[in-house]
Amino acid sequence: MINRIHEIEKEAEEKIASAENNEELSKLQVLYLAKKSELMSFMAKMRELKPEERASFGELMNSVKGKIQNKIEEKRNALKDHELEKKLKKETIDITLPYENDSRGAKHLFQRVVDEVSDIFIGMGYQIEEGPEVELDHYNFELLNVPKDHPARDMQDSFFIDETHLMRSQTSPVQARVMLSKNGVGPIKIISPGKTFRRDEDATHSHQFGQIEGLVIDEHISMSDLLGTLELFVKKMFGEKRSIRMRPSYFPFTEPSVEVDISCFECGGKGCSLCKHSGWIEILGAGMVHPNVLRMCGFDTNKYQGFAFGVGIERVAMLRYGIDDIRRFYTNDLRFNKQFDKE
Ligand code: PHE
Repeated sequence: MINRIHEIEKEAEEKIASAENNEELSKLQVLYLAKKSELMSFMAKMRELKPEERASFGELMNSVKGKIQNKIEEKRNALKDHELEKKLKKETIDITLPYENDSRGAKHLFQRVVDEVSDIFIGMGYQIEEGPEVELDHYNFELLNVPKDHPARDMQDSFFIDETHLMRSQTSPVQARVMLSKNGVGPIKIISPGKTFRRDEDATHSHQFGQIEGLVIDEHISMSDLLGTLELFVKKMFGEKRSIRMRPSYFPFTEPSVEVDISCFECGGKGCSLCKHSGWIEILGAGMVHPNVLRMCGFDTNKYQGFAFGVGIERVAMLRYGIDDIRRFYTNDLRFNKQFDKE
């Protein structure tokens, strides 16, 4: 009987080792450990043994039973690991393979226009400067010839954060910052694109919008330099056939000040709905830097003059690409952006 028990143990171990799945293991469990199995039927034979043999027989039975049970458990775990390994292998992704992806974004039209305008001015020897969006009253107004309580502050309904800080209402404070950084020594030739903020809301105005500021300071700068510069810009941006005209205007930090119109690119100047039948479209404000501003920012007005201009980024984009509503710039509709993606 003892021999048979050892035989069964050996046979069980072999079969467990070669089992290929859980189902087979379950069958082996029944075959070797169920109450009616051959091995377990030996338990009933305990009674037939001499009392002094019973203890060692019981021990043998328990140890064989335990060993078989353990082997089955071990095998079950091994099979589980193996399954997982197989699954992982099957799910491996080869990240070096080329892939198809049609969900590419597109450069935002706002940035596209900033880049185009920047390229034009960089081509004329300008440098790009940036300024903070949360600005001091001092730069946004005072150094631009708009003292506290000056009525010109009402030209723009500004967002103040506290007594001295506001969301800049224009990119013009960058003029003051750059001039001050030069300690009264020219030349300066910069543009400064960025966000500006005013209380304003309709189809063509938003409380947040972009401007590109331009500033040139040097000796012998005159209004004709401004005219020539803007003419070149407009032709590059809107087409060789465009011409410009200047109308007198008012800005506190320029004198004289002008509004600049371009001849309508829709009708060529004959008059249409885009130009409100005038043949001209207003695109920017400009002027000669006011002597007060030059002085406050450390420049000798006997030696230096300059011009400045400010152009709305969305305005240029809307005219150039025929966009009807400024809010299209901020609603993040990829279909809108992709229309202009020609790169
Ligand atoms: N800062 C003016 C505005 O926001 C534009 C401007 C800039 C005018 C520079 C003249 C010179 O309306």
